[in-house]
Amino acid sequence: MREWKQAVLALALPLGLVAVTPRGLLAQPAPPGDVQVRARVEALLAQMTLEEKAGQLTQAGQLTQAGGIAFGEIPPPEEALRKGGAGSVLWVNDTKRFNALQKIAVEESRLKIPILFGLDVIHGYHTIFPIPLGMAASWDPSVHERAAEIAAQEARAVGLHWTFAPMVDIARDARWGRIAEGAGEDPYLGAAMAAAQVRGFQGPYLGAPDRLLACAKHFAAYGAADGGRDYDPVYVSEGQLRNVYFPPFAAAAKAGVGSFMSAYMDLNDVPAAANPWLLRDVLRGEWGFSGLVVSDALAVRNLVTQGFARDGKDAAARALVAGLDMDMASGAYARNLAALVREGTLREAQLDEAVRRVLAVKVRLGIFEQPYTDEARAASVLADPQHRVQARRAAQRSMVLLRNEKKLLPLPQSLTSVAVIGPLADSKAATEGSWMVFGHVPAAVTVLEGVQARLKNARVTHAPGPEIRREVPSFFEDFMPELKKPEQTKEQADAAFQQALETARGGDLVIAVMGELANMSGEGASRASLDLPGRQEELLRAIVGLGKPVVLVLMGGRPLSIAWAAENVPAILEAWQPGTEGGHAVADVLFGDVNPGGKLPVTFPRNAGHAPLYYARNLTHQPEGSRRYRSRYWDGPTTPLYPFGFGLSYTTFSYSNLKLGAPELKVGAGAMVSVDVTNGGSVVGDEVVQLYVHQKSGSDSRPVRELKGFRRIELKPGETQTLTFPLGPEELRYWSTSQKRWLQDAAAFDVWVGGDSTAALHAELSVVP
Ligand code: BGC
Repeated sequence: MREWKQAVLALALPLGLVAVTPRGLLAQPAPPGDVQVRARVEALLAQMTLEEKAGQLTQAGQLTQAGGIAFGEIPPPEEALRKGGAGSVLWVNDTKRFNALQKIAVEESRLKIPILFGLDVIHGYHTIFPIPLGMAASWDPSVHERAAEIAAQEARAVGLHWTFAPMVDIARDARWGRIAEGAGEDPYLGAAMAAAQVRGFQGPYLGAPDRLLACAKHFAAYGAADGGRDYDPVYVSEGQLRNVYFPPFAAAAKAGVGSFMSAYMDLNDVPAAANPWLLRDVLRGEWGFSGLVVSDALAVRNLVTQGFARDGKDAAARALVAGLDMDMASGAYARNLAALVREGTLREAQLDEAVRRVLAVKVRLGIFEQPYTDEARAASVLADPQHRVQARRAAQRSMVLLRNEKKLLPLPQSLTSVAVIGPLADSKAATEGSWMVFGHVPAAVTVLEGVQARLKNARVTHAPGPEIRREVPSFFEDFMPELKKPEQTKEQADAAFQQALETARGGDLVIAVMGELANMSGEGASRASLDLPGRQEELLRAIVGLGKPVVLVLMGGRPLSIAWAAENVPAILEAWQPGTEGGHAVADVLFGDVNPGGKLPVTFPRNAGHAPLYYARNLTHQPEGSRRYRSRYWDGPTTPLYPFGFGLSYTTFSYSNLKLGAPELKVGAGAMVSVDVTNGGSVVGDEVVQLYVHQKSGSDSRPVRELKGFRRIELKPGETQTLTFPLGPEELRYWSTSQKRWLQDAAAFDVWVGGDSTAALHAELSVVP
């Protein structure tokens, strides 16, 4: 930087006239300091009526059958905003509408407090990245961070301030539809991905230009729903909460996330939205979280439906007292809070505490200074070609090669005739996946298009086969009628089956693109089976029966039980729901431009009856695999189809020289673990090096393995790299159920390093008092 610039900066920075961001200098105010924020908040609070306070704690939004938005639960938006009756609005996705609503708030309401606009920007706004489960399969937090940054830039340009992401729920049951939205089963990987997304969405500080307020959701343990049934109650011990379900939330809080969303369900019989232990004792008390807590949609009112609160008034009072600041769309706060104070059930100071948090977020985000959005700017931000480049890279890095017999992959460029078969092969919606913002029109490059673009001179044919559909429609269809489609008749389906088989017969090689549609995972999308839906397996079996080489590209939002394919289809690539550039990224991997290096962030069960199945379970008195207990089930193996952390490559890696800096450690001390990783093949490849530990005895029983370190590295053919990982109190402590506290035991530990959760290279560490 030139000297004059430094001089100007030295003067301007402390005065708050400019901000320094990773991209350089921005001629806009630096973030206000705590003292400034407090002063501004208190000045406003002193002027507010009880109704205005309840308004700031109200998020307005009511979806209608027609797909629009009305405000049925509270007065119509214009009227509500004019009276200061809503502090935030959700489910609007239109710059003009944002500005029109904002104008009422900042020009016509008494206190002129701007509205915070929120929406679910989960894996992209306009440029769609792989679903979060796919992003976790990259085992590369920097890719997730960049994706969140781009999503934030696009969403902010349109006028949004707040995204209800990241979803950081640990999910160990593949039947649960929302497994697609998170980082999978592991708290360590989940924590890394949670923090990365917070950094990406929010940037270096809350209120950084072109970023959003992020929201860690759904606090907490939503993923542990009984039977994998969305919204069902959760019963987990405090030990499991603290060791498994909390770490990604704690990591998000540590990374400075500005908001939390409470979960819907009962947690050990107390709904998360009105759970003082969760929202006050743990979140604020232990973690020192000072941001804003919002409910999940309609959750406050639904405390009555849930059989917890007597009526709306009781629900509002109990949620607020429990530490829930903002009511998402239920109207229970708007209707009841002022009356509750007047009748003496609540103290005004209890409202003030929550209002302060809402106002502080607004001040920090800078929306008092810049309430409006430049309607002309969004188009150029959305069209930034770099966004697609990054989406393609993220999709490439998310893909996991599950099988590759006789090195069928990568495919040769010389192919002259390829049949691309399956209901997902040319579906833009399925390629983008679940959770699109309202009004988004899927525009993904499909696998068919990706292969066509790659093989310009070959004959690339396509047939979808019989359609697949949910047996029970998604509730999203009520809001998005365009999702509704007439059902295929039996005759049409049979004809489509035959046509797909004939098309496959005509190709020298078949790429079958099968799995789940976008609406088969996500919210309200739990399943009792994990099989390929519809007649896909039947078609796959018939295609394999033709005797041609077949590649299965799996698309979907959860592990699928593809036990037959795992034995009979020579090459299988898990592509998840890969987003806008998905088809290109699949082709990049299939044809070897990119060597797949993703690894599974979830265990693949053989069968839905195995769920929940995860690697970090405890031992038993009869460890499975022993002669007498070869399997827990008498009707098949208990072992997963594919273990956590698993993924193949076009090259092979070997591990050697596992060394502990010290074979013996005192409690509280740390040592480094080192290992050599070698690329033994003939192509460049990425490996995700994973470190697992097992505490062999102690105050509590501990899981048979736990991930405690990972790194994705690239190795040239023949290259060896030495990697080191820290192993100390951070990695070895846990929350003990028997002692009711965090502790580190003096105990012996197994240490393994390798390419998945079955890694064999072993060392033993002894921790002494
Ligand atoms: C979901 C949340 C989401 C909210 C707002 C709820 O149904 O559970 O994840 O953020 O809707 O759209």
